[in-house]
This record gives sequence, structure tokens and C-alpha cells, in this order.
Amino acid sequence: MCGIVGYVGEKQAQDVVIAGLRRLEYRGYDSAGVALVAGGVIASDKRAGKLANLEKAIADHPLPGSTIGIGHTRWATHGAPTDANAHPHSGGVRRVAVVHNGIIENFAELRGELEAADHVLLSETDTEVAAQLLELLVLSGLDLTAAMLQLVARLEGAFTLVAVDAHDRSRVVAARRNSPLVVGIGEGENFLGSDVSAFIEHTREAMELGQDQVVTITRDGVEVLNFDGTPAEGRRYHVDWDLSAAEKDGHDWFMRKEIHEQPRAVADSLLGRRTPEGHLHLDEMRLSDQELRDVDKVIIIACGTSFYAGMVAKYAIEHWTRVPVEVELASEFRYRDPILDYSTLVVAISQSGETADTLQAIRHARTQRSKVLAICNTNGSTIPRESDAVIYTHAGPEIGVASTKGFLTQLVACYLLALYLAQVKGTRYGDEIDQVMQQLEAIPEQVQRVLDDAAQVYDMAADHVGTRSVLFLGRHAGYPVALEGALKLKELAYIHAEGFAAGELKHGPIALIEEGLPVLCVVPPAGRDQLRDKMVSGIQEVRARGARTICLVEDGDDAITPYADVIIRLPKVPVLLQPLVAVVPLQLFACELATLMGHDVDQPRNLAKSVTVE
Ligand code: G6P
Repeated sequence: MCGIVGYVGEKQAQDVVIAGLRRLEYRGYDSAGVALVAGGVIASDKRAGKLANLEKAIADHPLPGSTIGIGHTRWATHGAPTDANAHPHSGGVRRVAVVHNGIIENFAELRGELEAADHVLLSETDTEVAAQLLELLVLSGLDLTAAMLQLVARLEGAFTLVAVDAHDRSRVVAARRNSPLVVGIGEGENFLGSDVSAFIEHTREAMELGQDQVVTITRDGVEVLNFDGTPAEGRRYHVDWDLSAAEKDGHDWFMRKEIHEQPRAVADSLLGRRTPEGHLHLDEMRLSDQELRDVDKVIIIACGTSFYAGMVAKYAIEHWTRVPVEVELASEFRYRDPILDYSTLVVAISQSGETADTLQAIRHARTQRSKVLAICNTNGSTIPRESDAVIYTHAGPEIGVASTKGFLTQLVACYLLALYLAQVKGTRYGDEIDQVMQQLEAIPEQVQRVLDDAAQVYDMAADHVGTRSVLFLGRHAGYPVALEGALKLKELAYIHAEGFAAGELKHGPIALIEEGLPVLCVVPPAGRDQLRDKMVSGIQEVRARGARTICLVEDGDDAITPYADVIIRLPKVPVLLQPLVAVVPLQLFACELATLMGHDVDQPRNLAKSVTVE
């Protein structure tokens, strides 16, 4: 977690760094800080709370002009979010300043060593330990790059460190192990950032770093070294989205903008997936057909919203390929000693590509010789780099902490994977696959129709300001949708919300039903008679006990009408694809309700978009 920026060039570093931090605030916003090199000293300021607090402090007490600096926006791990624990950190004589993303696992031992030598530490952070050690190395006569190489040899854990030296106006030095960092390459200036949005307004030329590398940026160059000091090369690439893609497009929240971008995001994620002959073709699929034919079990690992996409994928993969699928929370996976071998395909779903729990689960799977396929939205991130194959979703940058277009495009990628497996294994005929592809290609227009009816959902949200608890019911592929609807409400509106499989209701949760309790019901399409009818019975049961039923029902299905207090219409789609349209009103509901309740929708309390700690 945490966002990191570094700059050296001709511009005012403070402006470049603060603008970069603003774009990275989604990575954490407990505190923020900046450090500049000016007149042979470190000039810095850091404040608890959002970036705005830091900006105000700097406006009141301006920092000196400087063209070299670093900055940080924090999601606390070691130590509470206070001014003292905010980054940057320095050593005893403030010769260096350091910002850090990750966790230094042996920090207690290193701290003990520093304290035994009478060094005074001002914060509770693991970062300050690294700053103190780095400073001692610089004071011993090493340049910042050499000092960083020596420092990383002493650190265990996951970290991106970025540092400046008060006596060196030429360079910013960073180190990377298991935590994200990219380089932005400009003319007479260079940048560091947790991701490209940190510098996209200045340059679209970027360089990806490998694990265990130290990078030194100066005004005219970038030097990459492995931790053992040998030279290395970063991979240069061009970023094909620009700053405007990361702006709000007139919406009040990034999240609302991203909900409305879903028709485009789904369409983009379907682009280029078929050959002229009509065969499915996944170009980042680096597994051979034979390797896929050998797959006899699929295990899906993911966290949060991505986990719910995985739950939907299970229905599709099992139905279309007859291969058994397990879906597991990434944080639980490796601790249960999972049974997997070379014929198990592990599918890791992650919007950010940096989620530490998912990454560790991938590493465990690969030690067991399983092949790993990543479904990811972030090119150049760690998870796809450490996987055998990747299906990239093409949602564009997702800034709102609560995932929306990320989820829909993950669903698309899951369906594509299921169909591709069916094609390779021959478990579905070509014309059946073609039919589903056509149904998928109709989804953007159907999602647009749901969005066009947003006003009804917004009115419903207005009726629920002050509600203390909401239940969500679903069956089959609608069950993960119910879970996702509840998660959105918890994340954004801070309302108690729970999703249930409707059939499970009578085994316990029905005891929660009381007069007026809102229950949102995702009704399966009528084509699946049994499922739909069973859902109708569930709705009757809760209504008979006083619940206020809000039913998401496909066009033309009137069987629910007598039991629904509110009906929200969904376009007619096959049952397996229904999550793509059914989740959209639930996203709109949570976004609007949280807005009406005065919450920060893009940056909900206690959350961060990219959770790079386990
Ligand atoms: C965080 C975010 C969630 C997200 C989850 C998984 O908890 O707040 O919105 O679903 O991480 O993230 P990933 O990037 O791996 O999909």
C-alpha cells in the first residue's frame, strides 16, 4: 500500500510531487509528506490525514524552491496515522529523507541495534529504521546509490524505498522488492511513482523494474542495478492512456464515472478476442493447448470484489468445460495446504495486480508446479509478471477505491477463459461458443440501458438514508451478485449489509427479518424455471415476515410483481451472464446512498485501493 513519488528535473519538485501524490491517494490516505533537497539540507513537511492537510500546511509555511524531491501518501501498517509516523523519515542529522511502501519484517531487530548504539528514533515506523541505516551509510562516505545497495542487503520483507541525500542535488535513488515502482522518462527530467498515474501529465514513456533492483534517476539518465550491484535493464514501454482518462469527466466521483464507463470497458475487454474464422483467441495466453487440455482442476484465488468475480467464474467454467473449480480467498489459500499439482490451473484475479495476499498465493501455487493464469487490469504490475499467462481486462485506470468497472471486466475475462477452455477441450461446439460470444457482445448496450434508468435507483437510495441494515438475496450466479451488492454498501455507506444465498435463508438468516427491513433480491431469469420459482418462494417468505422487498427482475417477468415493494427491471440475458447487468443497479445504489449520507465515495474510511501488505 502507500503511494510514492520521486522527481529530479528543472520544474519545481514540490508541485510535481504533490500532483503525483494526488493521483496516488487511492493507494492510501492516512497521511502525506514531501521532502526536497534545498541549500544542502532536507526541507520537508508531513501531516496526518488526507493530502489536503499537507497542502494547507505548505501553503501556510512554504518550503524553499527545489528541483529534486520525494513524496508519500500513506496507508498505515507500523504505527498509527500521526504526523510523526508520516513519511518521509530521516536519520539523526537529517542527511537523507526516505519514503517507503511495504513492510520491513526484520525491523524490530534492526531498531534494537540502532537503539543499542544510542540512536534516537522519532516514530514507530519500520521506515525510520531504514532511513537511519541509510543515513549512517551515507555519512560513512558512500554515495546514495552505493548506500542503498548496502542497505537492502540488510532488509527482509517487501519494500519500495525512495531516497534523497541533502548533499546530492543530482539524484533520487530507489529500491524495489515485492512492492510496486515504475520510472517515468522525460526530457531533462525523470520520475518515480508507484504507478504511471503519478507522472502521466509529464510523460507517457515509462520503464518497468524487475524484483530486487535499485534505480538511480538523474536529470539525464536512469541507471538500474540488481541488488548484487550488477547492471540491469528495465523494460521501456509507452503508456497508452492519458491524464484525461484519469479525470472525473464531469461526475462528482471517480466511482460514478467508472460505473458509467462500464459499457465501454466491457466492449474494450471483448475486443480482438476472435480470429477471422471465429475462433476464440487470447493473445496473452502463453499456455499451450496441450497444457490446457491437461488441466483437471481449476482453483481461483482473489480478494474482495475480485473474489466475487471468481465465484461467478465457477458457474461458467464448470458448466461449459465440466472441469471442477474451487474458489478460495487468496489470504486463506496457502495456509490450508491446498491440493494442487502440474495439472491444476490456478486463476488469480486482481484489478490492481499488486494485492499481496493474491501474490503470495500465486507464489505458493508455482512452487507446487501449478500453472498460474492472471486476470488483471494493470499492465506491468507484479501479478501478471509472476504468472504463466495473463488475460488483461481493458477497464482503464480505476481510481475509486470500490471496484466497479474492474469487476465487470473481470467477469468478461472469466467468461472468455471459460469459453476458451471449452474450445480447447472440445466440451462445447463452435456454434455454442459463438452464441455466447454474441450474447456477451450485446452486454455493453444492455448495461447502458440499466444506466439510463439510474434515476429510479437514485430515488430508491434517497428512501434509504438512515437505514441501518440491508439484506441481499441471490441464487446461482446471482448469489455472488448479492454478496457484491452487500460489500458495496458496507464499503461506501458504512451500513450493515449481508448477502445470502436465498435458499440458505430458512436455515438461519430469516431470523434477521423484521418489519420494514429492506431486502434486495436478485431474481434469476425466468428461462431457468426452477431457480426463478424458488427465488419467488424466498421473496414471499421474507415479505410475509415484514421485509420490504426490492426486486431486480428481468423485463417481462411479472410473477414477482405481487410480492415486490419495488421492482427494478433488468434486460433479458442468459442466467450465467446476468451478473453483468444485475450488479449495476447495486453499484449505483451504494454510490448514491453514500453520497446522500455525505461520505467520501472515492476514498471510503479505512480502505485502500491496492492492498500491498498481507
Ligand atoms: C481492496 C479494494 C477492493 C478490491 C480488493 C482486491 O480491498 O478495496 O475494492 O476488490 O482490494 O483488489 P485487486 O486489485 O486484487 O482486485
